[in-house]
Amino acid sequence: MLLLNLIQKTLSDWISFFADRLLSNVKKTTCSMRLFFNISLIFLLCSACDFHQPNQKVLGTTTDHAMVSSAHPLASAIGVSVMQDGGNAIDAAIAVHFALAVVYPQAGNIGGGGFAVIRMHDGSSSALDFRETAPSLATKRMYLDENGDLNNKRWSTHGRMSSGVPGAVDGMFSLHKRFGSKSMESLIQPAIDLAKNGYELTFLGAKIINTTQEDFREHNDWPIPYLQKSPWEKGDRILQPELAETLVRIRDEGRNGFYQGKVADQLVAEMQKGKGLISHDDLANYKSVWRTPIAGTYRNHKIISMPPPSSGGIALLQLLQGTEMHPIADWGHNVSETVHLMSELERRVYADRATYVGDPDFVEVPVDQLLDSTYNHQRFADISMKKATPSSTVSAGTIPPIESQETTHLSVVDPNGNAVSITTTLNSSFGSKVLVEGAGFFLNNEMDDFSSKPGVPNQFGLIGGDANAIAPHKRMLSSMTPTIVTKNGKLKMVVGTPGGSTIITSVYQTLLNVIDFGMGMQEAVNAKKVHHQWYPDEIRVETNALPQPTIDQLQAMGHSITPTDKLGRMDCILILPDGRLEGGADPRGDNTALGF
Ligand code: GLY
Repeated sequence: MLLLNLIQKTLSDWISFFADRLLSNVKKTTCSMRLFFNISLIFLLCSACDFHQPNQKVLGTTTDHAMVSSAHPLASAIGVSVMQDGGNAIDAAIAVHFALAVVYPQAGNIGGGGFAVIRMHDGSSSALDFRETAPSLATKRMYLDENGDLNNKRWSTHGRMSSGVPGAVDGMFSLHKRFGSKSMESLIQPAIDLAKNGYELTFLGAKIINTTQEDFREHNDWPIPYLQKSPWEKGDRILQPELAETLVRIRDEGRNGFYQGKVADQLVAEMQKGKGLISHDDLANYKSVWRTPIAGTYRNHKIISMPPPSSGGIALLQLLQGTEMHPIADWGHNVSETVHLMSELERRVYADRATYVGDPDFVEVPVDQLLDSTYNHQRFADISMKKATPSSTVSAGTIPPIESQETTHLSVVDPNGNAVSITTTLNSSFGSKVLVEGAGFFLNNEMDDFSSKPGVPNQFGLIGGDANAIAPHKRMLSSMTPTIVTKNGKLKMVVGTPGGSTIITSVYQTLLNVIDFGMGMQEAVNAKKVHHQWYPDEIRVETNALPQPTIDQLQAMGHSITPTDKLGRMDCILILPDGRLEGGADPRGDNTALGF
């Protein structure tokens, strides 16, 4: 097996070398001829090594200068036109974000929050935290009953009480203030036009709105634009006049058009219809925060990712440190050794996440210790390559998770090599399911990302400790992992995905797919994924990810295997050796990479 892998890898390295040489020789041909040549060449070469990488025939969109990869073709197209008009990657990302709030309402948002990791062409990097905060009236025990148990009323996941103070609009203005070059008005206008004139539903867009009709009815007392007696179909047009009006206020009045005045009044009135806690003061005082990105190395690559209150950057680097100790490229992609190692690392890293990570403005997160190589060597030293470690011997607590993919990610690279990686979320699909009356946007249900009761899992099955307990104004712990990778000081990859607790492991595997297994960007995104998160003590395996003999081997080692439909919905960009860009837009959704 090892020998076969070595032969395959040598062959594939040899083919890549000659591909690079051939591609550099056609640089002087016309763009379309080159694209045609490149695609044909790569198809030809990939058929030669098909036995090594089953997905290798797939090449993502490739462009010469700039690219946007996002969850919706309309949003990606808007980002591209911003850059064609001279805007930079940050301008494009802002326009894409607002567009997703209209055409991807299950996760794109102005009523949620997120994180941005930015690397400018001069090599400087930064991270913006526009995560939601707990309202000032929030309390540690707000979702517990009189016995101190979690109540069964779904208050942390459904309805007005589940919402944190939204950070997305402030975040977009903070990004623009530091890096924007086009007027904010021009970046919001395309979203206003889509909300006012309507957009056509995709098949998947119609499907998800149809499956949420009952929740929409339960949590809204006005005829929201997503409600309809007959099922929505692909091609149906959705108009959102209230959302258009809100976006016009943001365009004309700036950040205050959302956090003060009529929209703030509408949001607070919505809160007062139920148990919502967000006040005018909470809105007026919301501030996004610039933070220092988490940075580390992996096999000669520099990894730049999101620091707390996301657990993503720390967990990703811990996983990579543990992986670097092993020759996984020799073992192979998704073979039992690799899947076993990843799962063993993941159960330990997710246990650390639960114990140590929370909002750094409220708790001391031991970032340096968690990223210390001596610590991680010791942490992973007891991993046996022969048998699974029961999670109960790593720590305690269990419940099956409810999967939600409804966060969203966008990656942008502009012609100057500036790069932005943004993951943003309402938490669940359509967040709290509450559409603010008159203002037309969904509110998040991000409060469920707090640990309502230490040791009791949230909707993702994630267990938290005191570090992530609820407190007024505190930010809830996240798994969002917007990430940028460089090599030899040059931009190499922009990566990210939705997927709740599975975000970290999907980003992790995508990096391994490119760095260790030599895949292209689209191929790395398409590749089937697996996931372990300490509790529940199981490896979740995407449909067709592992052949039966591999599953048998893992079970023989003591792993429990749980099939799952889909893992991740990535939006990534890879800089190819000749400087062109390859998009990786996830076929699991409507994700689309476009550029020029
Ligand atoms: N709401 C999912 C996360 O932030 O991890």
